[in-house]
Amino acid sequence: MRHPFLEQLPCLGLDAYASAFQERLAPVARRIYGQDRKARPYLAMLDRLPHLAPVDMDLDRGCIRIGQAGDVGPEERRALRHALRTVIPWRKGPFEVFGIRVDSEWVSSLKWDRVRPHLAPLAGRRILDIGSSCGYYLFRMCPEAPALMLGIEPYLTFYFQFQLLQRYIRAERLFTLPLRLEEFPDMPAFFDTIFCMGILYHRRDPRAALSKVRRLLRPGGELVLETLILADDDDTVLEPRGRYAKMNNVHAIPSVTRLAAWLGAVGYRQVRCVDVTPTTLDEQRPTEWINSESLDAFLDPANPGLTVEGYPAPVRAVLLASA
Ligand SMILES: C[S@@+](CC[C@H](N)C(=O)[O-])C[C@H]1O[C@@H](n2cnc3c(N)ncnc32)[C@H](O)[C@@H]1O
Repeated sequence: MRHPFLEQLPCLGLDAYASAFQERLAPVARRIYGQDRKARPYLAMLDRLPHLAPVDMDLDRGCIRIGQAGDVGPEERRALRHALRTVIPWRKGPFEVFGIRVDSEWVSSLKWDRVRPHLAPLAGRRILDIGSSCGYYLFRMCPEAPALMLGIEPYLTFYFQFQLLQRYIRAERLFTLPLRLEEFPDMPAFFDTIFCMGILYHRRDPRAALSKVRRLLRPGGELVLETLILADDDDTVLEPRGRYAKMNNVHAIPSVTRLAAWLGAVGYRQVRCVDVTPTTLDEQRPTEWINSESLDAFLDPANPGLTVEGYPAPVRAVLLASA
C-alpha cells in the first residue's frame, strides 16, 4: 500500500526524492503487510475501528480531546476501548477519545509547556518530529497551522497509535512515516523546525545524528533538542556502563556545556539552553495504559536522587539552535 505522504511529494517540490522514500518504506511495508506477527493485530484493529465522526475536538489542551462520550453508543465504546488497548503501551499523551481517558505513562503536556513558549511561531512552517511516538506533539501543533507536520516513528506500536488517533482527528498536512532517523532520505535544507526530543541519548554517535538533522534544516531553521543531561557545569559526559534507569540503550548523557559544544562542532549557531528540569513522578508514572515499570521503579528507593544503578537521576534539558 502506498503511503499517503508519497502523494504529497510533488506539491512539496520533493519529486526528486520519491524513489528514495519508496526505497526506505518498501521493507517496512513488506513487514507490515506481510508476515509480521506484530503488525497483524494492529491492521485488524484499524480495520475494525468503529466509524465515528467526532462532533468536536480540542487539540489545544494538555489532555487532547477527540469527540464526546455522548457521540458513541455502548457497543462502539467497547470496540473503541478494545482498539485502544490493542496498542498498549501508551507512553505519550494523555488523550480522551470519545470519553475514554487514555492516561499515558508520560504527562506529555508538561514537556510541551516547557518547550512551546520558546519556539519560533509554527504557522506556515515545515516541521519534522523525530521519534514522534503516537503523535502527541504533532497533534498539539495543529491549531497553529504549520504548512507540513511530518513525524517519523519506527516502533510499530506507536506508529499504529498514531494511525488510530489520526483516523478520527483527520488533521490535514500531518503524516507519520514508520522510519528511523538513520533511514530518512538526505534532502538538504527542507524543514523549518525539527524536533529531536528524547532521541539523542539513544544514539551511539550523537554528533552524527545532530549533523544529519542539521542537513535537513534550511539555513536559519530551528532545532528543538530535548535530551537527558548531567546537571553539572563541567564539560563532561556520562557514558553509562550497562543500564541507565533500567534502559539498556542509553549511550551518552552530556552536561549542557558538552551538548552545546557538540552542536557547535557540527555547525549549529545561536545555541541556547532554555530549560533544565528533573524528571519527576508527576511527569512519568505507571498507569493502567502501560504494561511495564515506570520511573518509580528506576530510582534508588533509598535515594531518589540516584537511579537504581547509582547514576544521577534523570534530568532533561531543552536547547534551541539555528542551522
Ligand atoms: C523516549 S521516546 C521520545 C518520544 C517523544 N519525542 C518525546 O519526547 O516525548 C523516543 C521515541 O523515538 C523512537 N525512536 C527510537 N529509535 C529511533 C530512531 N532511530 N529514529 C527515530 N525515532 C526513533 C522511539 O520508538 C520512541 O517513540
